[in-house]
Amino acid sequence: MTTAELSGLPALAARVADTGGSPIRDILAVTARPEFINFAGGLPAPEFFDADGVAAAYDAVLTGADARRALQYSTTEGEPALRAALAGRTSARGLPTSADDLLVTTGSQQALSLLATALLEPGDTVLVERPCYLAALQVFGFAGARVVGVPCDEHGIDPDALDALVAEHRPKLLYTVPTFQNPTGRTLPAERRAAVAEVAARRGLWIVEDDPYGELRFEGTRLPWIATYEGARDRTVLLGSFSKVMAPGMRLGWLRAPRDLRRACTVAKQAADLHTPTVNQLAAARYLATVDLDAHVAHVAEQYGARRDAMLAGLPGALPEGSAWNRPEGGMFLWASLPQDGAYDTTALLGKAVEEKVAYVPGAPFYAGGGDPTTLRLCFVTQAPEEITEGLRRLGRALRNE
Ligand SMILES: Cc1ncc(COP(=O)(O)O)c(C=O)c1O
Repeated sequence: MTTAELSGLPALAARVADTGGSPIRDILAVTARPEFINFAGGLPAPEFFDADGVAAAYDAVLTGADARRALQYSTTEGEPALRAALAGRTSARGLPTSADDLLVTTGSQQALSLLATALLEPGDTVLVERPCYLAALQVFGFAGARVVGVPCDEHGIDPDALDALVAEHRPKLLYTVPTFQNPTGRTLPAERRAAVAEVAARRGLWIVEDDPYGELRFEGTRLPWIATYEGARDRTVLLGSFSKVMAPGMRLGWLRAPRDLRRACTVAKQAADLHTPTVNQLAAARYLATVDLDAHVAHVAEQYGARRDAMLAGLPGALPEGSAWNRPEGGMFLWASLPQDGAYDTTALLGKAVEEKVAYVPGAPFYAGGGDPTTLRLCFVTQAPEEITEGLRRLGRALRNE
């Protein structure tokens, strides 16, 4: 019996009634303690936040001519100075964009919720990658969508499988993180981006292209957004975020969408939070006008690359013979699978890892409808290289059951 039932109160909505009960969540809650080496959380390394630069931007905003405006309500669409700066950055990356094409959101997570409100009826089908970002699965689940996973390989979505699934399920949208995906770290090659755009145009489908990690490249060359391809232009919603390149605590994201959908998202945002905090938007605009964010991000990416290398160096000694993992060219995550001989289930093994004071996220929950129990996600950016090495020693002991 729930507390509500005991006290005679009406029950919680069915969509939230079963949240909070995940055993993984309970185990991972203890891993935030300082004695843990935590490869589980998806947190950017705080030592690389430009705290001085961000503080100076807030200071300038709160002591300058705009101070009163910074503390005031503002428009739902977002602060013009920030939208203009974001439009400039998006255009410079090959997607011509004006300030009016953008809606500022409270993190890109909010953009996902707004899109679900604006696009999805209960029972609508949404296609996602296998595996998929967990909180996106949650948003689509809350919206009552039927979530179907698209077969993927080490490069991401298989366009032929996508085509067949669209024909079979008539989904409303495809949600994808094409660059340094969460959870796998993989990147969709350019030819597949073109093929995904072509399928969406031919079959009639929205694409939600979520790109919080693309700037964090430490190797290889940047790939065009799916949104830049001919057939995809009028049907792709591009999501961006400052969480991984500036500071997640500022909760600043944005969406670029065709007019009618953007307007619907704006109305949904009015109902959600009226607008994203004015002071944060003005501080970010000030930061962009006064600091070279790209130079800062290049420095952070270089450090993250060294951390990825530390993880790649330690994995052969930590994971059992027959395991496999990828080598992401950027982002924050790496994806591994343990031998498929039936002996390894990463959900069952997490308790052992926690006993050794190291944590990862088991892969199975990232799959809509269940998936490979031997997989795991490792975040390589939050710890310094020597901690990563020690964390992998601990993981090795846990997996060998020493
Ligand atoms: C793929 C993906 N999309 C969206 C988000 C949400 O980010 P934000 O902090 O911008 O809300 C995350 C956060 O980890 C993510 O991994």
